[in-house]
Amino acid sequence: MTEMNLTKEAPLEEPARQYYYIAKAEEYLKRQAEELGRPLTFCVTTFGCQMNARDSEKLVGVLEKIGYVEEAEEEKADFVIYNTCTVRENANMRVYGRLGQLKRVKKTNPHMMIALCGCMMQEPQVVEKLKKSYRFVDIIFGTHNIYKFAELIVTRLESERMVIDIWKDTDKIVEDLPSERKFSFKSGVNIMFGCNNFCSYCIVPYVRGRERSRNPKDIVREIEGLVSDGVVEVMLLGQNVNSYGKTLDEPMTFARLLQEIEKIEGLERIRFMTSHPKDLSDELIQVMKNSKKICKHLHLPVQSGSTRILEKMNRRYTKETYLELVDKIKTAVPDISLTTDIIVGFPGETEEDFLETMDVVKKVRYDSAFTFIYSKRSGTPAAVMEEQIPEEIVKERFDRLLKEVQDISSEVCAVHTGTTQEVLVESVNDHDSSLVTGRLSNNILVHFPGEADLIGKIVDVFLEECKGFYYIGRRI
Ligand code: SAH
Ligand code: SF4
Ligand code: F3S
Repeated sequence: MTEMNLTKEAPLEEPARQYYYIAKAEEYLKRQAEELGRPLTFCVTTFGCQMNARDSEKLVGVLEKIGYVEEAEEEKADFVIYNTCTVRENANMRVYGRLGQLKRVKKTNPHMMIALCGCMMQEPQVVEKLKKSYRFVDIIFGTHNIYKFAELIVTRLESERMVIDIWKDTDKIVEDLPSERKFSFKSGVNIMFGCNNFCSYCIVPYVRGRERSRNPKDIVREIEGLVSDGVVEVMLLGQNVNSYGKTLDEPMTFARLLQEIEKIEGLERIRFMTSHPKDLSDELIQVMKNSKKICKHLHLPVQSGSTRILEKMNRRYTKETYLELVDKIKTAVPDISLTTDIIVGFPGETEEDFLETMDVVKKVRYDSAFTFIYSKRSGTPAAVMEEQIPEEIVKERFDRLLKEVQDISSEVCAVHTGTTQEVLVESVNDHDSSLVTGRLSNNILVHFPGEADLIGKIVDVFLEECKGFYYIGRRI
């Protein structure tokens, strides 16, 4: 890209425009690096979900193209980027806490630049607060214009001012920008952006905008490229993958998309998240049943087991229809592992409602469940509902739920003991370097003796012992 003519004005079309700015930033950076006598470094921190993590890979891709080198220790980096999350209040508080510390560090490193992006930046009151009390931040942008990162960096390098660029929403999807994968052998792939469900507690539709699906051809092309680059497992990402394709010019179901992806030679495993129970079709269940590549794992957030609460949450299913769905899936794919998300303490939740949630947990027997304490998000319908539940009651229910979930999951996890399963090796074990760590199709971790050269390979492992949430095994 260095041969790009930078004396001309930036092209208007994307992604050409961003490649122009990448080349321009590269020149600025080269000069800075020469003055300093060392390359400039960056550190990106992801605060949110897998979609947020995927966005961070795109940021890293741009930074590395520009010539920045990764630095693991944030305090030493010349460019610190926080990719923020605002789904619960505590995610938010962590960002402010860390920013306070960064202010001190920036005083000692005059080269330091700080950029904030992600979901939190889509909230006007957050940006107001940053403008007022966090003047040392250099660049602020949102979720819809993340592809403009290179352009924003150049804008900042050419001025001394704080650069703020936030869009309310977008109907655009920009393809073919650089991205740098965290793992060589597996990758997240966005299949859609945004969410139209407006669950009454959730801020995501407000900060991620309306639902947009990527063109199936672009998705398949991206995965083919990844596979030729060594990727064997993809995770298809969307807030509600089951409604994929509804807004395309030529509508297509998620099940059909999966069948297209299945055909890609060299791809071994397909995962996806998240599935909204209201949109999970029989067609999808059949495709999962017949597939050789779709992993035996389904994340199916229930949120609550009480039909009354589910209605107030605007989830559009009942306890009974959820349980029927689970039965249907377990019948079609008997060895499937089910996981879920549960919120405790939604406004108006009574002890009876909570017991309905406990009942669902006992009936479904999840492999694991993410349990959350309800967090009030301003601007959402639930934030102004009456009967917000006192903290002590929520905490007490949360602890009971967590215990139940953990007891069940250690039992469920152990059922594969004594079987041989395919494992995708992901890393050398953190604590014991004679072991490697990999994942079963159902997403459970296994540690077994092996060397680093197994990373990225799928091998057969005998599961000797279950240790609650993971296995110890041996290769056969
Ligand atoms: N699109 C996904 C979820 C994205 S957010 C889905 O519909 O399942 C991930 C999880 O965060 C949600 O499943 C929910 O359990 C939790 N969550 C969202 N908003 C929350 C809030 N206000 N308080 C507590 N938990 C929340
Ligand atoms: Fe939030 Fe509901 Fe959309 Fe999931 S489906 S992102 S919980 S609004
Ligand atoms: Fe958080 Fe945004 Fe994901 S709010 S959970 S990072 S979509």
